[in-house]
Amino acid sequence: MSSASSGLILGIESSCDETAAAVVRRGTDILSNAVASQIAIHARFGGVVPELASREHLRNILPVVHSALADAGVTYADLDAIAVTEGPGLAGALLVGISFAKSLAFALGKPLIAVNHLEGHIHAVLLEEARGADASVAHSREALPPGRQSLALVVSGGHTHLYLAQHGPAAPSPEEGGEISDVGAPSTWTYRNVGRTVDDAAGEAFDKVAKLLGLGYPGGPWIDALARHGNPSAVPFTFSQIKAKVHRKGDPAALDPARTTYFSFSGIKTAVLRYVHVHEMEPSIGVRRAALAAEPHPTPAEALPLCDSRTLDLIASFQRSVIDDLRRKTFRTAENFNVNRILVSGGVAANRELRVRFTSEAAERNISIAFPSLALSTDNAAMIAAAAWPKFLAADFAPESLTAEPSLALGRNPR
Ligand code: KG4
Ligand code: ZN
Repeated sequence: MSSASSGLILGIESSCDETAAAVVRRGTDILSNAVASQIAIHARFGGVVPELASREHLRNILPVVHSALADAGVTYADLDAIAVTEGPGLAGALLVGISFAKSLAFALGKPLIAVNHLEGHIHAVLLEEARGADASVAHSREALPPGRQSLALVVSGGHTHLYLAQHGPAAPSPEEGGEISDVGAPSTWTYRNVGRTVDDAAGEAFDKVAKLLGLGYPGGPWIDALARHGNPSAVPFTFSQIKAKVHRKGDPAALDPARTTYFSFSGIKTAVLRYVHVHEMEPSIGVRRAALAAEPHPTPAEALPLCDSRTLDLIASFQRSVIDDLRRKTFRTAENFNVNRILVSGGVAANRELRVRFTSEAAERNISIAFPSLALSTDNAAMIAAAAWPKFLAADFAPESLTAEPSLALGRNPR
């Protein structure tokens, strides 16, 4: 295979608790997508332990890269570039992927491309859309209409962000206060941050509520599986409007209050805790937690008989409230910015009820909506290699001084 023209990018991702490597051709063809999950290691702590994550990345990085190359049937010499997640994420975890990618690029004499993890999540949708994964879309990645804006909701364990994403350079509109980051060559993407959470991310709320109810880690898939057995209207949680105080703190970089959507997910976690307390559910939670802890690989199916109807109703109501809040605010933002295309990505985008409710609202409003396949919803490196492709075309390579950026922002004025 000729490395000069094949467009092969090796992506490396190590921002949190998955060590991942993938080979993607020209930003669309996934030749391999290897992921070593650390879930089993962190599950007993009910959350990611940064120190353990770094060590596991170090242990896994070489085998994962080797298997990505072997699965793709390519060698190091075939690669055109190495792409790596620069941030945001855990510093020690990011450093493992970055150090490895830097050394590899240096040793091979190939360019290194730094990718924002959030941009990677957005490209997980774009890459599948471009290659027509849902069979209804036949255009190639290069043929995506330049200048068409999409609203991207990135909803994961660490993030709940809304971005206006656009292919190619865009002129910011002054009345929108619109300064756009990363304006570059026509093949690049530009992003403008128009929404964020002021406290917990949505996935974090799923994880914390699952932990509080004695379920497994990460909590999202457990709540997803159990919610369908409960009544989502049983417990009326309400999301209060996030008051103007969040942007009145004198922060000059604060998001434009008139044009920004705020989410907040810490209140619902407290409301679930209060509900548990008022209804004296602690003893049954303790029994469930102990029963699941005794299983080597507990699953939601094993948790079902350990949940009474009040618990299942609570789970279903929690999930419905979070999804409806995400749905309402996302569609309202699309309307505010007159955007008729929504991309939903990140781990929480794997949620089945979220997909159903977003899809039906999109149909009602005649808005196009796209999600990644389940494998590309959670962290992976194919999305990193895909996001790197426009940068490769624009020769937007990382400097030799590249390092981990744990709070790296995407677009203007993010959190
Ligand atoms: O994107 P991701 O793998 O990592 C981050 O960048 O954070 O997202 C992980 C998050 C976790 O909070 C997990 O509970 C949540 O995504 N998640 C889900 C589902 N699958 C994963 N949340 C709701 N429903 C799911 N099916
Ligand atoms: Zn992620």
